Amino acid sequence: MFKTTSTRILVIGLVYMCVGLVYVEGLAYYTEKPAYIESCRIHEPDFTNCSTRSIQGFLNAVIKGIPEIEESFGPLDPMKQDQLTFKQEDSDVASISANLTNLIVRGLGKMVVKESKVSKKDFSWEDKIYIPRLRMNGTYKMLGRILIIPLHGSGSIFIEIDDLDILMKAKTRLYEKGGYTFYNVTAVTVKLEVGRVRTYLDNLFNGHSKEVERSTNEFFNENWQDFYETLRPLIVETLEHTLLDLLRKMFNVMPANFFVEDIPNSLVLYGRKTRLIA
Ligand SMILES: *[C@@H]1O[C@H](CO)[C@@H](O)[C@H](O)[C@H]1NC(C)=O
Ligand SMILES: *[C@@H]1O[C@H](CO)[C@@H](O)[C@H](O)[C@H]1NC(C)=O
Ligand SMILES: *[C@@H]1O[C@H](CO)[C@@H](O)[C@H](O)[C@H]1NC(C)=O
Ligand SMILES: *[C@@H]1O[C@H](CO)[C@@H](O)[C@H](O)[C@H]1NC(C)=O
Repeated sequence: MFKTTSTRILVIGLVYMCVGLVYVEGLAYYTEKPAYIESCRIHEPDFTNCSTRSIQGFLNAVIKGIPEIEESFGPLDPMKQDQLTFKQEDSDVASISANLTNLIVRGLGKMVVKESKVSKKDFSWEDKIYIPRLRMNGTYKMLGRILIIPLHGSGSIFIEIDDLDILMKAKTRLYEKGGYTFYNVTAVTVKLEVGRVRTYLDNLFNGHSKEVERSTNEFFNENWQDFYETLRPLIVETLEHTLLDLLRKMFNVMPANFFVEDIPNSLVLYGRKTRLIA
């Protein structure tokens, strides 16, 4: 249903050295805690507040640009997405096939971490994230129907989402590297609430009628809740894919110990201590 390709290039075999950074098989990770990360203890009552500040601090540094993450992920804002393929068949509101290419996403740099909970049991996460305004533009190719309107066109597309509230759940698996415990982020799911969505698609009917194109765009914006329901799977999957990729890369380079001082060793957590000792 959904496919994305990325041109992000992982630069390996870097030759420069950096204080507190270690390269293993060309991949870097930090061995000294940078000042922008606040350490928290999961067994203390204020943990969630501390963790929220800690994750926001890390995110702010990533937005400013941490070379080890930018090399593999690319810049966060604006973010490039080469291709999205989207298909929705026979729902009440729509039946469309659309391909979006050369997408540019703006606004991720304003991400606010409102709450960052970590499970004491399995170290999964539950985060509340807020983005004041997310803008996407690119080229589209579309065939099908949205609401009652048959669509057949290609051109440029613009989507703007105001007040995006994201409830993100992430599954993690802890692992050991160089004497530190790391998070391996293995799955991300999101639930979204939006304040308002605006869209503009040009050349909707392959340019046959500018007047109908204008009124159709107006109609979509007047009925934006319905139109958003059509777009929702695309936005959900784009965000899930992007966040999984980003979080993986963020936490591959930064030990979990820096965020949760009292995180258990993964071998202890998953009950393989005896085997390790034996
Ligand atoms: C966390 O922060 C909120 C608001 O900033 C505050 O009301 C709450 O008491 C804090 N929780 C703890 C455990 O300190
Ligand atoms: C998206 O917007 C940027 C800046 O407004 C523009 O340079 C770019 O050409 C647009 N992309 C597409 C595919 O229209
Ligand atoms: C979108 O791309 C897919 C696969 O590349 C193709 O099967 C489909 O027909 C395309 N849809 C449109 C509307 O171009
Ligand atoms: C992280 O998990 C993925 C599967 O979700 C696995 O393929 C990968 O090898 C794991 N990485 C580490 C370092 O354990």
